[in-house]
Amino acid sequence: MVNNSESIRQRIDQLKREKNAVILAHYYTTPDVQAVADFLGDSLALSIKAREVDAEVILFAGVHFMAETAKVLCPEKTVLIPEPEAGCSLADSCKAEDLKRLKEQHPDHLVVSYVNTTVEVKALTDICCTSSNALKVVESIPADQPIIFAPDRNLGGYIQRLTGRKNMVLWDGCCHVHEDFSVEKLRAMKARHPEAKVVAHPECRRELIEEADYVGATSGILKFCGTDSAREYLVATEPGIISEMVKCYPDKKFIPALPGNSNCCCNECNYMKMVTLEKILKTLEDGAPEIILDEQVRKAAERSILNMISVK
Ligand code: 13P
Ligand code: SF4
Repeated sequence: MVNNSESIRQRIDQLKREKNAVILAHYYTTPDVQAVADFLGDSLALSIKAREVDAEVILFAGVHFMAETAKVLCPEKTVLIPEPEAGCSLADSCKAEDLKRLKEQHPDHLVVSYVNTTVEVKALTDICCTSSNALKVVESIPADQPIIFAPDRNLGGYIQRLTGRKNMVLWDGCCHVHEDFSVEKLRAMKARHPEAKVVAHPECRRELIEEADYVGATSGILKFCGTDSAREYLVATEPGIISEMVKCYPDKKFIPALPGNSNCCCNECNYMKMVTLEKILKTLEDGAPEIILDEQVRKAAERSILNMISVK
């Protein structure tokens, strides 16, 4: 007898074949969503994959800005989003009209924006970055060129410390998930697991980053745990990635870092968890909701994303 989630998975597979569709999923989605994905990755890898895949339809299992980025890069493809309300606190913190005003106050500054932004913000940006290439992107800009870095103050501050650049105006935004990891609880966990290494995403606060043995994007964290010799890791990023870590390295142990503001046993992104198998199925059946963009805005945003992709 086929259970309900198995029958949903089978129907999703059938619709993918019938509609020439692929599912791209971010590491922060739930394990059952990751299991139906054709490609799983971090935000940079998924943007590049969106351009490469030979499919008429891309269903983006992730948050809104990720699906928008796919549409910017693939205007000829249908890009579906199973939950259009799946936002991002970073993207929400940076409104295009506010960035425009800041640019007017700093007309000689180049704008570097994290991909966790709306298409309108990307259209006002000179070059985008993700957490996996932010250092390379900033280093590709002449040292004497002043920069506005938006919207993540933690990632911006981290890059500023790595490069020693003084001429960076940081937008005052943050990710509610990474901002909330508790340094005190992490120190207590380190005391209980003295052999464990700490891996952290650069969206975390400086005090937390300073406790880490490795700092990097989700893909970097995953790679580090494969090449490193420790058997145990304390993971300071969204815990959705842990299912992939366990799959890749079944002999190692991964323990999620804890939030400061609650007694929860981990720190989930409520937006990423809005994407469910049921919504994926309904979206494939309906061919909607679809990402639709204004062509002028899309083209301007495309330039800033392509500038990022061309940085080697
Ligand atoms: P990555 O760039 O590591 O995929 O991170 C995206 C994100 O939303 C982090 O919170
Ligand atoms: Fe946005 Fe943070 Fe969720 Fe990533 S984890 S999608 S930055 S709210």
